[in-house]
Parts: sequence; structure tokens; C-alpha cells
Amino acid sequence: MITRRIFDEAIAIIRNHFEVEDNQSDVPFPPDTLMQRLQKKAGAIILLTDRIDEAVLSQCPDLKIVSNIAVGYNNIDVPACTRHGVMVTNTPGVLDDTTADFTWTLLLATARRLVEADQYLRSLKWDGWKLMEFLGYDVHHKTLGICGLGRIGQGVARRAKGFDMQILYTDLVRATQSVEKELGASFVDKKTLLAESDFVTLHVPLEPQTTHYISKAELALMKPTAILINASRGPVVDEKALVQALKEEKIAGAGLDVYEREPEVEPALLPMKNVVLAPHIASASYETRLRMAMMAAENLIARLTGKRPPNLVNEEVLSS
Ligand code: DGY
Repeated sequence: MITRRIFDEAIAIIRNHFEVEDNQSDVPFPPDTLMQRLQKKAGAIILLTDRIDEAVLSQCPDLKIVSNIAVGYNNIDVPACTRHGVMVTNTPGVLDDTTADFTWTLLLATARRLVEADQYLRSLKWDGWKLMEFLGYDVHHKTLGICGLGRIGQGVARRAKGFDMQILYTDLVRATQSVEKELGASFVDKKTLLAESDFVTLHVPLEPQTTHYISKAELALMKPTAILINASRGPVVDEKALVQALKEEKIAGAGLDVYEREPEVEPALLPMKNVVLAPHIASASYETRLRMAMMAAENLIARLTGKRPPNLVNEEVLSS
């Protein structure tokens, strides 16, 4: 079962091996329909909009693999999959640079008010150059705070070097000396990072301990001129607390690609001019999304032809 519309190339390699049912309408199945469509299926290619949990798994005893076309897999109850003997795979690595590029797109667009200026020009309000018009914030020589120095966080840091930025990072585990040296990044605790950074960018996975990783207390520590960037997962930021902080000018702006209750967006964010909002597109380049789909197809084919999928998330399923 392919639950949403994906590239024909990926469908074709799966069809070479198996009978395929797909959902070309690209509308997410409601939970009950998803459960019905997955019955009697041996494998599923899913998107991050599909929730795979105990309720689904208990109705689909034939399922052997859930192949997610995303690196993040917070839409899947992995321990439940392991209990049911279902392999879970994801698509790590291929989207790191594309996501790091887009993090920078959001950062620059927010700092330099690009979307607001574009809308102003298109509304034919521009009547000539002014010294004091559309002033934004410099990025070069400022301090960038990276929360989560995994592959994507490192990609963001590498790009920051070109802007002569000071780079701070915080993480559960400190990076090796050689990584710190290569990136010119200094390890600090979360509070120091929030207090000292001009730009704070989030690259942590969504887990119970990272839910609302940025909330009222954290926003209160940030500079009033600071900008928050989130291209990780929506619930990492407490959206209501963010709205409040923006209204009270506790921070200067935000660039967001992800939201707490996608596709819903906190309504108060919509009219805010100092906020740039994108619809979860950080990995959305032709090249990368195709690679992600092909990788998911390869994971599925490997499992269903008796091989170990290259990107197995729940290794423990092998011994269960
Ligand atoms: C992921 O892969 O987890 C992204 O959010 C979509 O590319």
C-alpha cells in the first residue's frame, strides 16, 4: 500500500516486485480508512501525515514493514511496531543539505523581511527608495545558536561560517573535538545559548522530552532582537507561548516551517509581519524528495524480499 501520491519512478520499482495499491488522490486517509486499506497488506509506504499505532497494527497482522518517507518518525509508535514484528524504516541523510539550505532561507527571509517586502511591492504601495524603509537585522558577524547538532544542525553551522558568525550549540551529547573545530562551534548549556544568540535554530527530534522545548520560560531568556527558526517538528515550540512572546516583543521574529497541529496554524501568527511561515517544505526540492521516495521504496523491497532494509529504525525487531 502506498498511502499518498509519490514519484512514478518509486512506484515503478515497487511494482517490479509486488502488487501495489496506491492513493493517487494524495488526500490523507482518515484513521479508519487507513486501517482498512492496510489490512492484508505486507508492506506500506507512508508519509508523516499517516499515524501508525497500536490500533492500526492490531488490525493489520499481515504487515511486515512500515516505510516512512521522512527522516522523522514521530508519526509511528515504534515500540508497538516492534511488538507486532513490524519493521520501521526512514530516510536519513539524503535531506540534510536541503533542509539546512531551507533553514537558511527562513533565517535570511525573516531577518531581512523579504516576504513582507515582497507583499508590499506586489500591492503597488512602493513609491520609491527610502533610507528608513524595511530595515531588518544583519546576519553576518552575529551569534547563531543551534539546538541539536546532528547532521542537519551541522549543515546549518557549516553554512554559517560563510556569514562570519559566532556559532554556539547545545545538545544532549557534546560533539567531538574535531567536529567542534571543523564547524568553529562552541558547546554551551541551553540557557546560555538562548541568552546569547541573535538567531536560535531548532534541530532536535520530536520526543516527549523535546515537546515544548521552547516555551514561555525559554522565550523570556532570548534577546528582544532575536529571531527563532524552526524547521524540525512543530510541537518542539509551544505555539501559544511564541505568539505571546511576539506580541509582547520579547523576541523580534520567527521563521517557521512546522506547526504544532499541522496543517492548522495558530491563527494569531497569520497576520504577524515579523513571522515567515512555510508549509513544511524544508526538504522539498525535486532532487531530495525523489531520493527520499526511492530510498523508502528500497527499504520496503529489501524487507519484503527477505533482506535487511538499509534504514531500519527498530533493530530490536530482528531479535523479537
Ligand atoms: C522529515 O523528513 O522528517 C521532514 O520533516 C520531511 O522531509
